[in-house]
Amino acid sequence: MAGFGVEEEDQPTLLSSTYTFKDSLKVVLEKAVEISILPDLFLPKYMAAARYDFSRYLKSLMIIDVPSKCKSTRENGALLAALVKANQTDDKVRQASGQLLTEAELSGNIFVLAAAGYETTASTITNAIYILSINPEVQEWVREEIRNVVDEYGWNYATVFPKLVRCLSIMYETLRIYGVVDSVIRHTREHTIFDFTDVAELDRRLPARIEVPPNIHTIPVIGSLHTHPLFWGSKSLDFDPKRWIKRDLSKPPSEALENPAQKDTFFPWSGGLLACIGKKFSQVEFVATISHILYDRWIVPIPLDEEDEPALQRRVLSILESVELSPGRKMIEPQKVSFRFPKVRV
Ligand code: HEM
Repeated sequence: MAGFGVEEEDQPTLLSSTYTFKDSLKVVLEKAVEISILPDLFLPKYMAAARYDFSRYLKSLMIIDVPSKCKSTRENGALLAALVKANQTDDKVRQASGQLLTEAELSGNIFVLAAAGYETTASTITNAIYILSINPEVQEWVREEIRNVVDEYGWNYATVFPKLVRCLSIMYETLRIYGVVDSVIRHTREHTIFDFTDVAELDRRLPARIEVPPNIHTIPVIGSLHTHPLFWGSKSLDFDPKRWIKRDLSKPPSEALENPAQKDTFFPWSGGLLACIGKKFSQVEFVATISHILYDRWIVPIPLDEEDEPALQRRVLSILESVELSPGRKMIEPQKVSFRFPKVRV
């Protein structure tokens, strides 16, 4: 939870509790329906305890000493600290005009950010580790970039992040094939015409427009859009992050990211007015994690007794692809694969 400004070592000082912040969030998210409607009496003890701990963590976060926390370089970008800080002001005009959030609104916002941002990013990083583990040549290709960039500029976010495009292409390709949000719901308020002229040009059998009456729920199936051969070619299901990279001829020899398919075919963070507000945040978390691992380590799946390489690869893929939608896409038995992270020999 470092990105949210909650470090393991902070927790005992916040309060003494049954759950860590991360674990209480996990239970609250998994059992959101029961926890939001049932009183303690009707809840299993572990759910009531998680709800209690989680609400106390939220309160503790709101009274943390933000200015002193933000002094340390490590905490400068912590999201929750920034949110609390923005709401702490002596400005009487802003206080009187109702521009500040109430305590309930602030804790609600912290909850939404933690809920929407934690599982999605964590699952994306996990999925990437699984797929990278059976693609060592991709690991090597990314490591080449990380070493070139980091050895020259150090681990400096502002300089390094925009240059780690291969790292980001891993995130895009992971989200394309193993996206964590498979569908979003949109409601038509009025008679709506969807223009699919571009698509109809690719396949004449498809309609160039679809008319939808008012008051209809539409659910674009993002996973299909992300893997349809019409847009992504006959190898649409292959994990190939290089498909995102184009040479940036304006600044040779650098590389840049570009959607290789038609426009409007890649929506892992959704789009329009309700699109994810944590997109950049999740990209930074992903790139930071993957670049730190791959800089000097391999991600290697551990075989079972007498399991050969092809069988191991099939097992990793089948675990990665056996998922439930609850509500995001999540592996059912991730624990059935273990990994080693040996140092790269130089
Ligand atoms: C790989 C990581 C992530 C993915 C794939 C993702 C994806 C999405 C998607 C598809 C939506 C739905 C938008 C819609 O309904 O059209 C969404 C909403 C949202 N996301 Fe993310 N997200 C990610 C990370 C984050 C992070 C790190 C944060 C916060 C720091 C965040 C905060 C939010 C919020 C606040 C919403 C709106 C929730 C609501 O209003 O109900 N997301 N995200």
